Amino acid sequence: MASVRPRALSGIQPTAGSFHLGNYLGAIRQYVALQETHDAFYMVVDLHAITVPQDPAELRANTRLAVAQLLASGLDPDRCTLFVQSHVPEHAQLGWVMNCLTGFGEASRMTQFKDKSAKQGADRATVGLFTYPILQVADILLYQAEAVPVGEDQRQHIELTRDLAERFNTRFGATFTVPAPHIVKEVAKIYDLQDPTSKMSKSASTPKGLVNLLDEPKTTAKKIRSAVTDTGTVISFDPVEKAGISNLLTIYATLTGRSIPELVKEYEGRMYGALKTDLAEIVVDFVTPFRERTQAYLDDPETLDSILAKGAEKARAVAAESLATAYDRIGLLPAKH
Ligand code: TRP
Repeated sequence: MASVRPRALSGIQPTAGSFHLGNYLGAIRQYVALQETHDAFYMVVDLHAITVPQDPAELRANTRLAVAQLLASGLDPDRCTLFVQSHVPEHAQLGWVMNCLTGFGEASRMTQFKDKSAKQGADRATVGLFTYPILQVADILLYQAEAVPVGEDQRQHIELTRDLAERFNTRFGATFTVPAPHIVKEVAKIYDLQDPTSKMSKSASTPKGLVNLLDEPKTTAKKIRSAVTDTGTVISFDPVEKAGISNLLTIYATLTGRSIPELVKEYEGRMYGALKTDLAEIVVDFVTPFRERTQAYLDDPETLDSILAKGAEKARAVAAESLATAYDRIGLLPAKH
């Protein structure tokens, strides 16, 4: 029964265009798995996306593209709640309340803001970018989420969420669930194919190190086959001495569900090229239907939009209740209808 399952919630930025293999194997597969054990809410965080300058047409297209890829990855609207953040106005509304509970110094200590605002230049960074983590707090608290599956880079924002939930509860009475302090560990950390000591990321120094799921499969196969390895000849798992080969083994194991020791045994005495050729084929067999499924959702915007309409309705039912309680607890006069 859905009601006894612990609630999970996560948000995905619609800024990247194509998902890459690192996102997929690291985070998205975990979202898919959590549908089975949790009452899971997943949203595309378009309000967070506008904290840095956006192109309106691109944002709209990328929002649909993110949803299509999440569905293609296996999120099932009958088993989770999938929606777009701006379709649920309670996010902005509780965000304001949380802004009024957050200390200026407390917000100033968020390291992601410091990094992002340094990149933009101090004069360009907006107040929205500054309060980004506080909107994220509202995202989580509205759903009384217990588990928040995110990467290590979001740890500080989850800590802020815990602090603000506790502060609210102490001042105004028990209202919000304090989300689990632990961050769900990434199932697999995937590294850049050309620089296997840094995480695969869309800001990679060369596109050859990054596998975009929506790329032409032929391009992807070529990237796998030209992945950087070492000058040795033995295929073994050693992330320090053999970062490249180890990364390929991780991708191989994660995509096939086989264990790394089993693969190492299978490739004993064989050359790096054999591993690369086989892996290229495995990756192509994965991305080809993924692209087709994504395209099918994009070709049918009516279905996609109706999935989102249902998701927003389910999300709003939960969010509206939390917001109404919070408004009441802090002393806002209820509007009479
Ligand atoms: N800040 C998160 C990221 O960049 C995205 C996000 C927004 C989020 N709201 C959230 C994640 C709520 C988890 C829960 O990855």
